[in-house]
Amino acid sequence: MFQADLLKGRTILVTGGGTGLGRSMALRFAELGASLFLVGRREEPLAKTCEEIRAKGSPTGYTCCDVRDFAAVEKAVAAAESQLGRVDTLVNNAAGNFIARTEKLSPNAFNAVVGIVLQGTFYCTLVLARKWIAARQSGNILNIAATYAAVGSGSGFVVPSACAKAGVLAMTRSLAVEWARYHIRLNAIAPGPFPTEGAWSRLLPAKELEERARQGHPMKRFGRHEELANLAAYLLSNMSEYVNGECVVIDGGLWLRGAGEFNDFVDFPDAAWDVLEAARKNPSSGEPKS
Ligand code: HXC
Ligand code: NAP
Repeated sequence: MFQADLLKGRTILVTGGGTGLGRSMALRFAELGASLFLVGRREEPLAKTCEEIRAKGSPTGYTCCDVRDFAAVEKAVAAAESQLGRVDTLVNNAAGNFIARTEKLSPNAFNAVVGIVLQGTFYCTLVLARKWIAARQSGNILNIAATYAAVGSGSGFVVPSACAKAGVLAMTRSLAVEWARYHIRLNAIAPGPFPTEGAWSRLLPAKELEERARQGHPMKRFGRHEELANLAAYLLSNMSEYVNGECVVIDGGLWLRGAGEFNDFVDFPDAAWDVLEAARKNPSSGEPKS
């Protein structure tokens, strides 16, 4: 279905590209001919993923960058350009999240998540789009949202993330209109549950919670990374040029079954929360299986 050179000639910056879904998308884009620049805070996963991309024969580079720091984002984009040339595509994938009772959150906990997800997405978007607009060059942006960010949705127990992702969606739709005249296209993907170390350790940190989530899914399974990576490749490619300001849900129908992925946690007694919080302090290791 996908031509091997679908993304040939494209240079794609993926935030949070060293791990999880960001890594899977980056590897898929490389297979389809793109050059990849990865950013994140930790060097080790970035270096490792870049090595895997290089092994596929694609040009690649990385730099450590906290997307909450505007000056660091400017530096990261400059590093990308000096290593790979003009960046024409951005995937805002970096995120922070955790499951918690909202009344227990500190202001800093809220700020940490909103800073990464909403401000980080805006900073990366602004730095690149300003360059594209000044140089009269087209650009393409894909934002990774969540199903609980949609109008009419929401979810308890992940409130900072729900607020931030809803903002990302509003940004996607607003800029799709504002910047269409500059040939800058923005879309979003709202994934359902896709097993990653980052998400599972913070949101489903016990086997029983994982099983409960699987059994509650209409398809009784989680998403496969290649399913999301292929959707992302399509939305970034020229095959979808008339798709603008859209958010595509990829969750096997979970959202339709009942909005608010974590709302079920209202039934949790305090004792169960204690277990959850203990699991957070002593997480099980390894990448979970789908
Ligand atoms: C309550 C918590 C907490 C938790 C951290 N905090 N974890 N509060 N419950 N589980 C609080 C801290 O006490 C601190 O507040 C504040 O949050 C900032 O924490 P730090 O660790 O100092 O911040 P930082 O190093 O910036 O880390 C950010 C982070 C962390 C978001 C807290 O989890 C992170 O780095 N996450 C990145 C990866 C990630 O989250 N991936 C999952 C994405 S999945 P105080 O007041 O003590 O200073 C996803 C969608 C899934 O997004 C959708 C459903 C399937
Ligand atoms: P993940 O592996 O934890 O991905 C998050 C990435 O963001 C990490 O590589 C992390 O690297 C990076 N990051 C975090 N804070 C950052 C910061 N301040 N600056 C720069 N980079 C930062 O989790 P994931 O599951 O693959 O999530 C990827 C995306 O999918 C996120 O947008 C998430 O909200 C979304 N999503 C995931 C699921 C799911 O089920 N997995 C469902 C819905 C939506 P560092 O820690 O090294 O910085």
